Amino acid sequence: MVDARITVNGKATPISPAAPHTTVLDFLRERGFTGSKEGCAEGECGACSIMVARPGVEQPTDWVAINACLVPVAALDGQEIVTAEGLGTLDATGAPTELHPVQREMAVRGGSQCGYCTPGFICSMASEYYRPGRCGGGESAAAAATESTAAEAHSHDGEHGPNGFDLHSLSGNLCRCTGYRPIRDAAFALGAPSTDDPFAQRREQAAPAPVATEYSQDGRTFRRPQDLAEAVRLLRERPDAVLVAGSTDWGVEVNIRARRADYAIAIDRLPELRELRVESDHIEIGAAMSLTEIERRLDGSVPLLAQLFPQFASRLIRNNATLGGNLGTGSPIGDAPPALLALGASVVLASEDGEREIDLADYFTGYRQSVRRADELIRAVRIPLPLAPVTAFHKIAKRRFDDISSVAVAFALDIEDGIVRKARIGLGGVAATPIRARDTEAALDGQPWNTATVEAAARVLRSEGTPMSDHRASSEYRAAMLGQSLLKLYAQTTEAVLS
Ligand code: FES
Ligand code: FES
Repeated sequence: MVDARITVNGKATPISPAAPHTTVLDFLRERGFTGSKEGCAEGECGACSIMVARPGVEQPTDWVAINACLVPVAALDGQEIVTAEGLGTLDATGAPTELHPVQREMAVRGGSQCGYCTPGFICSMASEYYRPGRCGGGESAAAAATESTAAEAHSHDGEHGPNGFDLHSLSGNLCRCTGYRPIRDAAFALGAPSTDDPFAQRREQAAPAPVATEYSQDGRTFRRPQDLAEAVRLLRERPDAVLVAGSTDWGVEVNIRARRADYAIAIDRLPELRELRVESDHIEIGAAMSLTEIERRLDGSVPLLAQLFPQFASRLIRNNATLGGNLGTGSPIGDAPPALLALGASVVLASEDGEREIDLADYFTGYRQSVRRADELIRAVRIPLPLAPVTAFHKIAKRRFDDISSVAVAFALDIEDGIVRKARIGLGGVAATPIRARDTEAALDGQPWNTATVEAAARVLRSEGTPMSDHRASSEYRAAMLGQSLLKLYAQTTEAVLS
């Protein structure tokens, strides 16, 4: 198909002759939009950040920042994106005449030196600038948000500005030379968008609908089916197909390991995979919802997931990454599986034959292996209700945010009258698959929630799995951290100081 096209800064641009695996970043740069940069090509630096118009959680359209280096341009057929070049005002010749408020604040507050990271920061910052509910004030709020008021706010909450700006929206953007204080000053000085701001007005109209796409070049095909029925039919015909959702994992394979899919099927916009329903006995989360969408829709109602999301990855990644993708890749160090194991979640698999529901504890069969057949896809994840009252997610990594786990531990404990009625513990990074800590659960079940029980169970927890030594951590460290995480949970629940 040759009429696949993408709207870049308001102008429809044909995707052809890009190859089906070509990333949005390469596509843009080849067409002269060189503001977006390549720093890492694996979703870690944010130099490639752009904004895409997506269906909003609280309004018709959200401006969502994503990593252009990870997403194939064919996946954005029919969609609308904005790069740093498209944010300011241009004259008829395309020359910039006026800076966007985000660009202006970055410039006047010294937020850019070499400028390599700047367009990426601008797009992430603009996405947060337009986030609904961020700032209730008008432009006058911008003037009021002086450096001194921003500094005052830091002393109360270093991660949010007086204008509601969430600094975590920039957690996927790295800067090597400016330093982050001027960038933070720029972010905290932003007011609300003015009423005649075209991007603010754009939020009131619907985002572009997904477009069924069949895009082929040089014998390779990128296919976006219209609905689930077409997706499972294609999957039956092409069991060799690569399923692509947010592409935050597949994009790395393409860029760093030069992998290519002869046939890719995009499932991230399938309506049947994008619903979140709260039933009387479970919550069902569509496998293709982004983590940001789930986070905003649940709004803290599943506390264990609310703890997981900020630690999962940067906002840029969470804007595209999906639960289905994190389970589908089967990585033993994915962060979602331990949390979902602790929650007792199940996976709904769909094929042409219908659906089947598998307990997540029975889903993984080996390193990156699962019971999912080649003709099946993950349609949804179900979390049983009621939720256990005591939950925690502990990710042990070298950095607090935007890092890969050395070990991840998730707890869901039902403690009543000081007795552990039911314990479920999910572990990542200690075996070839994510696992339940069954022996530790047994050591806790029916026992009083006290120091003796917890110290005994922590010893059992240290022996769960078969942690290995690698560049992230030694096996001894991983085992020690397992036990420590239970002691930490106990300290958190009792405020006791344990030795
Ligand atoms: Fe680094 Fe895309 S180039 S995140
Ligand atoms: Fe140079 Fe950020 S301004 S890397």
